[in-house]
Amino acid sequence: MTERVRIDFGNLMAPLVAGGVDPEALGGAMADRFRAVRSEVETLRAAGELGFLDLPYATETLEQVQTLADGFGQWFEDVVVLGIGGSALGATALRDALLGAFWNTRSGEEREHFPRLHVVDNPDPHTFAGLLKRVDPARTLFNVVSKSGGTAETMAQYLIARAAVEAAVGEDKARGHFLFTTDPVRGALRRIGEAEEIPMLPVPESVGGRFSVLSPVGLLPAAVCGIDIGALLAGAASMAERCRSEDLMDNPAALLASLLHHADTELGRSVHVLMPYADRLRSTALWFQQLWAESLGKSTRGDGERRPTGPTPLAASGATDQHSLLQLLMEGPHDKVVVFVEVEDAGGDMPIPGRHPEIEELAYLGGRSLEELLHVERRATAEALRRADRPSATILMPALTPATLGQLLMLLQVATIHAGALYGVNPLDQPGVELGKMLTYGLMGRKGVEAPDVAEPDPAWIV
Ligand code: PA5
Repeated sequence: MTERVRIDFGNLMAPLVAGGVDPEALGGAMADRFRAVRSEVETLRAAGELGFLDLPYATETLEQVQTLADGFGQWFEDVVVLGIGGSALGATALRDALLGAFWNTRSGEEREHFPRLHVVDNPDPHTFAGLLKRVDPARTLFNVVSKSGGTAETMAQYLIARAAVEAAVGEDKARGHFLFTTDPVRGALRRIGEAEEIPMLPVPESVGGRFSVLSPVGLLPAAVCGIDIGALLAGAASMAERCRSEDLMDNPAALLASLLHHADTELGRSVHVLMPYADRLRSTALWFQQLWAESLGKSTRGDGERRPTGPTPLAASGATDQHSLLQLLMEGPHDKVVVFVEVEDAGGDMPIPGRHPEIEELAYLGGRSLEELLHVERRATAEALRRADRPSATILMPALTPATLGQLLMLLQVATIHAGALYGVNPLDQPGVELGKMLTYGLMGRKGVEAPDVAEPDPAWIV
């Protein structure tokens, strides 16, 4: 079986699906637009703005991460990643995809004595207090991840974790329980790290949070748990190569971006659903949701024109959401396009025993397998959508391995850059999240930030 990740987009094409993409457009207008977009992407690359494309080749960083992970990282029973958004979603995606759902509940022996891995993300006190009760701070490494080095949620968690570790091991030894992943030069975290000689890993200048999964942000937590990060990067490199092709049909990222952009702008399908049929990829779908939303949702175009732009990504999960979202996908507004992800070798077939041959609701299942059921359900759902004139595509992964996951992550990141160029927006910034951050600082009393005048809830409108 080939290890290549591929895209089956037959169910996006007319006339197979009524109202789908016209094959002539694919060879005509879309191919023309691709040529312009490709040169824009190459210009960004040449200007050094697409740092994530270099990550698969950063062998020095790989060695640095691996050394820390194999040595320092193994002194601990638990590793807790403190980060949010792009500084958390990648590590969660890697853990769930490659270690599976039950990593943290396995015994030390079952984990081959690699540590458990927790990614905190949200500053919900209920969750964080619960986690700090479950781990022994004296045997825990806190990997504080913040590109800017000053994000309120992450810094608050750091301060709490630091106090918990100091209470457990004393002030002198506490710094030995921290590892910072942050900007190579700037930020509060770097200043603290330098002053206290806390080990630090760099997030390269040209790599933004949501494009950082293949930097030390994702690599360190993955490597500490024994994930083969070399294979992950090799997979990503092979996809990055394919995504440089000048031929739209040979360039998976450009093709995916072109099809989704076309579905939105020409067919009115602005909701882009990523629906893997594999529990292990649920977090990857959430990672994609952030990538697509924060990169493409912009009020201003690259040419300065103010026009709210951006498709709405939606993370879904098959077969679970056949019993939730599918009704809407089948019969709701014609504003959605579904991208399934199929893991061809689902990783552990499970035969279904034959029993109750006399009961037709159960009899047909006997002798089949769970893997077969999951595959059939994905096919059946795609076919049902097609018959309802709802286009879909499927990303095919031969199996879920570090190498194929690396390909998938790179595919979606490069597709995001192409989509940015197609929509005419800057996919690398996020000006829309700044106002909320400043208001938070003001309300929390940060020095130098004026207390904002925030509308108070009006009792007249509360029932
Ligand atoms: O993708 C992004 O840029 C954001 O989601 C950031 O990752 C998030 O805001 C956290 O920022 P930082 O890593 O600076 O703490």
